Amino acid sequence: MPITFSPPLADARDFPAPGLSMLPTRPGAAHGSARTAPRGAGAVVPMSLARHALAFIGTAVLGAGCRVWLPAYHCPALVEPFIWAGCDIDFYPLNADLTPELSALTDDHRDRPAACVLVRYFGLDCAVERSAGQLRAAGYTVIEDLAHAAHAPALFGDYGVTSLWKFYPVQDGAELLIASHLPDFDRLRAAARAWLLPPLRWQALHLKQRLGQKFGSRRPGNFRYLQEHRLRAPMSRRTAGELIRHDHGALAARRRANFRALSAALAGAEIGTPLFGELGESEVPYIFPLLLHDNDGFGQLRNAGIPLYRWEELAASGCAVSRRYRSRLVQLPCHQDLTAANMAFLINSCGGKART
Ligand SMILES: Cc1ncc(COP(=O)(O)O)c(C=O)c1O
Repeated sequence: MPITFSPPLADARDFPAPGLSMLPTRPGAAHGSARTAPRGAGAVVPMSLARHALAFIGTAVLGAGCRVWLPAYHCPALVEPFIWAGCDIDFYPLNADLTPELSALTDDHRDRPAACVLVRYFGLDCAVERSAGQLRAAGYTVIEDLAHAAHAPALFGDYGVTSLWKFYPVQDGAELLIASHLPDFDRLRAAARAWLLPPLRWQALHLKQRLGQKFGSRRPGNFRYLQEHRLRAPMSRRTAGELIRHDHGALAARRRANFRALSAALAGAEIGTPLFGELGESEVPYIFPLLLHDNDGFGQLRNAGIPLYRWEELAASGCAVSRRYRSRLVQLPCHQDLTAANMAFLINSCGGKART
């Protein structure tokens, strides 16, 4: 059955421009170090976006017709790559703490290869180690979606994908991780590298697309979030340079401190409840998830100038948690460039109390 997504609930044009940035904007200070790969990743292939890395896995590793289980709570950018690859997609439900509810999978009597995508939502652990172990033992190919967890210390799945523009002040950037336990990880790394267009060919294709767009000869794409002509784009040189300039440790520490401050200040806030109280020792958050008490909270915060993300476009599934979170779970910034004034603005607008 074709997958359709529920329509958006709100339109950014109906709200004032936010008073602060959702994502980091300040370039690194030129004395950083190389990013370290998570333990268990035998190969790291730089790519342009996580959705493109997922498309590579969908087409080159799994193949059309492969059964793929995806989480019912998602953004379409996680689902569309597998639609593009022709996979047979199903959705598993989530518990309220966004750990996966996998009983449907372990009961699934499979007569063909199957894969499952696990997400470390917002940079939190979400029981990935336990779930990956369970699934791999049952014969699944496990893909860890680390789009929100660019600093995860370990890879427990067979493959992983990161999304670097969510953490660094760049426009693109992702990594395909291939686990060292896969016997043919050298061959897979070579296949992934060969899939990417050489930079000059990509630039020529990109220019052609832009001219087509300008002069109206380009047909609209089949997807809302996946641009098919960009699938094989390499990571931009600008992003690669920024990654070298950045102090990754300072970035992680700043994000963790902001998350903790929001967590303390918003516990008991009138508008909603932090979804997670504590951060684990090695968790580096992407954003701060706040569960609103009612559906009006979103408009209230946006009208106050708070930038928010909310996953409103969900594929139909039987997951009650996802249905509830579609309108109630909002994502607040907690990135490294927030100033003390930004933090005070966020906390006050949510009706929280800053604690020292
Ligand atoms: C969980 C998750 N996976 C994958 C993606 C896709 O990441 P990218 O924008 O790098 O393609 C996103 C966000 O867009 C995401 O939130």
